[in-house]
Amino acid sequence: MDLTNSVALVTGANRGLGRHFAAQLLERGAKVYAAARDPETVDLPGAIPLRLDITDADAVEHAAKIAADVTLLINNAGTSTGQPLIGGDPGLIRLEMETHYFGTLAVTRAFAPVIEANGGGAILNVLSVLSWWHPAGVGAYSGAKAAAWALSNAVRDELAPRGITVSALHVGYMDTDMAAHVPADQKTDPAIVAALALDGVAAGVPEILADDVTRGVKAGLSAGPR
Ligand SMILES: NC(=O)c1ccc[n+]([C@@H]2O[C@H](COP(=O)([O-])OP(=O)(O)OC[C@H]3O[C@@H](n4cnc5c(N)ncnc54)[C@H](OP(=O)(O)O)[C@@H]3O)[C@@H](O)[C@H]2O)c1
Repeated sequence: MDLTNSVALVTGANRGLGRHFAAQLLERGAKVYAAARDPETVDLPGAIPLRLDITDADAVEHAAKIAADVTLLINNAGTSTGQPLIGGDPGLIRLEMETHYFGTLAVTRAFAPVIEANGGGAILNVLSVLSWWHPAGVGAYSGAKAAAWALSNAVRDELAPRGITVSALHVGYMDTDMAAHVPADQKTDPAIVAALALDGVAAGVPEILADDVTRGVKAGLSAGPR
C-alpha cells in the first residue's frame, strides 16, 4: 500500500504509540484522522481530531460517516487493567474484552465498507506478545489480545476479496504510559515500533513481530503451555 497517498484513521491517537503512528503518517504524506476519546487532547499539527470511544457503537458509526475517505485504519486504542481472571474485577476483565476485541471489531466493521468504497486499502491491528503468552497476573489483557489475534486472522480472510489487507502488530513492552511501571531497559521506543509497523503495512505483511521477545514467544508456541 502506498502510505503517501493514504487517508488514515488512528484510534487512541492522542498519546503513546497511536500518537507516533499519527505523526509518522503525516510525515509520510498521509491525511490523518487522529481519533481520541477527547479530541481536545490531540496536539499534532496537521492531524484532524475526531471524537471516538471505540466501545461506543453510536460514536463508531458517526466516525465512519465523518471520515468517509479513509483507506487505512489503525486499531491502536487499548487498555491495560492488570487483572487476573479469577481474582480480578469482573467489570475490568469485561472492559479489556470490550476494548481490544469488541471495540476493534466494531471499528473494523464500520470502516471496512468505507475502505472498500475508496478502492481498497489496509487495516493494522495493534496486538501484543501477550496474544501468545498468558501470565496469570494479566489474564484479562492477554485473553483479550488473544481474541483480537483470532479476529485479525478471520477478518484478514474475509476482507481480502474486498481489496483490504489486514496486518497484526505483535510487540513486547514499549515506553508509553501503559508500561510506565516497567524498567527502561525492558522497553522499546514506540517511535521505532511505529516505523517498523508502517513499513510492514506498506509491504502487506500479515504479521509484524517487533522485537526479539515477541519473535521468541511466537517461535515457541508449538511447545505448548509452560
Ligand atoms: N505499552 C506497551 O508496553 C504495549 C505492549 C504491547 C501492546 N501494546 C498495545 O499498544 C496499543 C497502544 O497502547 P500504548 O502503549 O500507546 O498505551 P497508552 O499510552 O496507555 O495509550 C492508550 C491509548 O488508547 C486509548 N483508549 C483506551 N481505551 C479507549 C477507548 N475505549 N476508545 C478510544 N481510545 C481508547 C487511550 O485514550 P485516553 O487518552 O482517552 O485514555 C490512549 O490514547 C494498545 O493496543 C496496547 O494494548 C502496548
